Amino acid sequence: MITKNLALARDVLVQDGIVAIPTETVYGLAGNAYSETAVKQIFGLKKRPFFNPLILHIKSMECLHSVAKEIPEAAFKLASRFWPGALTLVLKKQGHISDLVTSGMDTVAVRVPNHPVALKLLEQLDFPLAAPSANPFGSISPTTAQHVHHYFEETLSIILDGGACEKGIESTIIGFENDEPILYRHGAVSIEEIEKVVGKIKTVPEKSDKPKAPGMLSRHYAPNTETHLVTNISESIHAFSDKKIGLLLFKENSQTQDCLFQEVLSKTGDFDEAARNVYAALHRLDLSDVDVILVEKLPDIGIGKSINDRLKRAVEKE
Ligand code: TXA
Ligand code: MG
Repeated sequence: MITKNLALARDVLVQDGIVAIPTETVYGLAGNAYSETAVKQIFGLKKRPFFNPLILHIKSMECLHSVAKEIPEAAFKLASRFWPGALTLVLKKQGHISDLVTSGMDTVAVRVPNHPVALKLLEQLDFPLAAPSANPFGSISPTTAQHVHHYFEETLSIILDGGACEKGIESTIIGFENDEPILYRHGAVSIEEIEKVVGKIKTVPEKSDKPKAPGMLSRHYAPNTETHLVTNISESIHAFSDKKIGLLLFKENSQTQDCLFQEVLSKTGDFDEAARNVYAALHRLDLSDVDVILVEKLPDIGIGKSINDRLKRAVEKE
C-alpha cells in the first residue's frame, strides 16, 4: 500500500516490520537496525546476498556516536558540511551493531537523510533505520513510490510516499584509511564538492573483484532490455538501424528527433536535473517495447561522473 500515514509506518517499524521510505537520493527498504528479524527481512525481500552490508540512517549527527567510534576529524568535517544529506560515511562500528548489518566487517555505513518525511519518521524512533535502496538486487533503483510498488507489490505492506526523490541517485560513500578519506562510491555529492572540504582524496579503482564497498559490483542498476552506453549517438543509431531503438539522451539533440522512443534527461544539459531523471527514464524505457536502449555518456565531471558510473554498471554484461 502506498500511504502518507507516518504513524502507521512507525508502528510497522516498531514491530520489526519493513517500510519503504523516501529519501532525497532514492527510496530505501527500511527496518529497525537493532532488530535481527527486521534486518533479515530486508535481505530476504531484496534478495540481497549477505556479503553486502546495509547503510544505517540516523536522525542527526548527535546520534553518530551511538553507532560509530574512533571517528576521524575529516569525518566530522564532512558530516558537518553535508548532513543532513547525500553523503554516507563508513566508520568503525560500535560493538552492538550486528554482523548481519555490516556483513561481518568492523565498519558501519551511516548517513542522515535530507528528506522531511524520513527525518520526521526517524524523530519518532529510538533506533536507526537500516535501509538499502528499495529495488531487487541488481535492478534499477527507485525514485518514486510507484517504482517501489512495481517491484514489491506482492511482498511489501507499506510504502511511505514522499514524492519523487530530489537528488535521484544514491549517496556518495566515503571510507577512511589511516584517518584519510577515500571515495568508495560516486554519488549525489560530487567529488569536487568533497575535495573543497577535505582536500584531494583517493578513489578506489573503478573495477575490482574485491571492491571496498561490496555492493559496487560491476553489473548493477540494470534494465532487462539490451542496453549500450555510447559516445556518438548518431553513429550508434545507424549501427542498430534494424532494431526498435530507445534513446536515453543527456540533452536535446536535433539529429535524433525522429526517434520515437527517447528520454531527454535535461533539455539544457543540467547535471542535477539529469540525476533527478535518470532512473525514472531508464524505468520507462525498460518498460516500453524497444529492442535496444542506447544511453548517451555524459561529460565526466561533477555529478556527470556519478551518473556515468551508474550507467556503466547498468550496461555491464552478466
Ligand atoms: O542514497 C543511498 O545511499 C540509499 C538511500 C536509501 O540511503 N541507499 C543505498 O543503499 O544506496 P545500498 O544498500 O543500495 O548501497 C549501499 C552501499 C552498498 O554498495 C554497500 O556495499 C555499501 O554501501 N556499504 C554498506 N556498508 C558498508 C561498509 N561497512 N563498508 C563498505 N561499504 C559498505
Ligand atoms: Mg542499491
